[in-house]
Amino acid sequence: MKWPSDRIALSAPKSFGMYEKSVRLYPQCASMIHLEVGRPDFDTPAHIKQATKDALDAGRVHYGEFAGETDLREVIAQRMNQVNQIPVTAQEVLVTNGLTHASFAVMLAAIDPGDEVILLEPYYPQVINKIQLAGGVVVTVPLNAAGGFSIDVQALEAAITPRTRMICLVNPNNPTGRVYSRAELEGLARVAIQHDLLVCSDEVYERIVFDGAQHISIASLPGMAERTFSLFAFTKAYAMDGWRMGWVVAAPRFMPALMKITMNDVSHVNTFIQAGGVAALMGDQAPVQAMVDEDRRRRDMVCQQLNAMPGVRCTVPTSTIYAWADIRGTGHTSQALADLLLERVQVVVESGAFYGPAGEGYIRICFGGESYERLHEAMQRMATVIT
Ligand SMILES: Cc1ncc(COP(=O)(O)O)c(C=O)c1O
Repeated sequence: MKWPSDRIALSAPKSFGMYEKSVRLYPQCASMIHLEVGRPDFDTPAHIKQATKDALDAGRVHYGEFAGETDLREVIAQRMNQVNQIPVTAQEVLVTNGLTHASFAVMLAAIDPGDEVILLEPYYPQVINKIQLAGGVVVTVPLNAAGGFSIDVQALEAAITPRTRMICLVNPNNPTGRVYSRAELEGLARVAIQHDLLVCSDEVYERIVFDGAQHISIASLPGMAERTFSLFAFTKAYAMDGWRMGWVVAAPRFMPALMKITMNDVSHVNTFIQAGGVAALMGDQAPVQAMVDEDRRRRDMVCQQLNAMPGVRCTVPTSTIYAWADIRGTGHTSQALADLLLERVQVVVESGAFYGPAGEGYIRICFGGESYERLHEAMQRMATVIT
């Protein structure tokens, strides 16, 4: 008997990064400060919880619709049209168990064995396994580091072969914190249209933008809605990471495949939490703004402290909950510095190389998962190591 299958074995993750290492090396360390995990530390807004409790009490505890409850899909479609300028109806919305489930369904639906899928590097590593499980081949194209990790359209075009099937985009970007400009997205769109490629656009951070930065959904550009899977989640903006709820919108031709996959793996998303999803999108948005304001306050302090450390340069990100700090001036490699911070002061940051070789020379620090005070403490500890 052959087990596990070659495909599963091949795609087994090499590492879960610094989180795994920190808990393995220091299992009981109460003073450890985790800045490597991208988890909001806020509570889910009360009106979202209340709507979910009400749905439970009202008996919404049975099987629901495979694609997601109609009321939620309609609200999502409305939001997609009005805010993101993506022209869809509720029939082109699939409610998923977070963005993770959405991207897995997309890869299985769109990728045939041997198809090449382009990731812009530094990339969000969790997508790699999904591509490989679908039988796809990962091809990486570095972002333009000198241009603040902007999209290098020429490099992108040079990577295209007859087997290229899809380009993956994370916008706003994790780990760099960049919000791609219209010009960059138009460049990518031109390449996708010219070579008849699909685009998988992860927009989980769309709501966490600062300083007037404008997030644009690539599916809103001419000719793109028909070839783009647009992926969203309640996870970050509404502090609902444990709820596991998101959605994907795609052109009608993709819906049967997406439905077939999701019906077979999860049937559908938990019925009563979808009432919380409606409340999140339709209800008071002030809590979202309050969280974003606090993230901005934390960001400012963290970036200012990082820039005061010798050899560290950190461009202030206009989105996400991550500071992407250039540490080349410290003389350490990314992993060596992450290890040193863990060993010496129990501050856990992610090595930039975790996001692909193009991330070497950087570390990623999450400023959205700890209080201002704990973040300040972490920065002070880091400053005793980076001298
Ligand atoms: C870029 C990106 N995509 C997807 C996810 C996962 O989202 P979800 O928890 O909704 O599956 C994350 C979480 O950190 C992320 O940073």
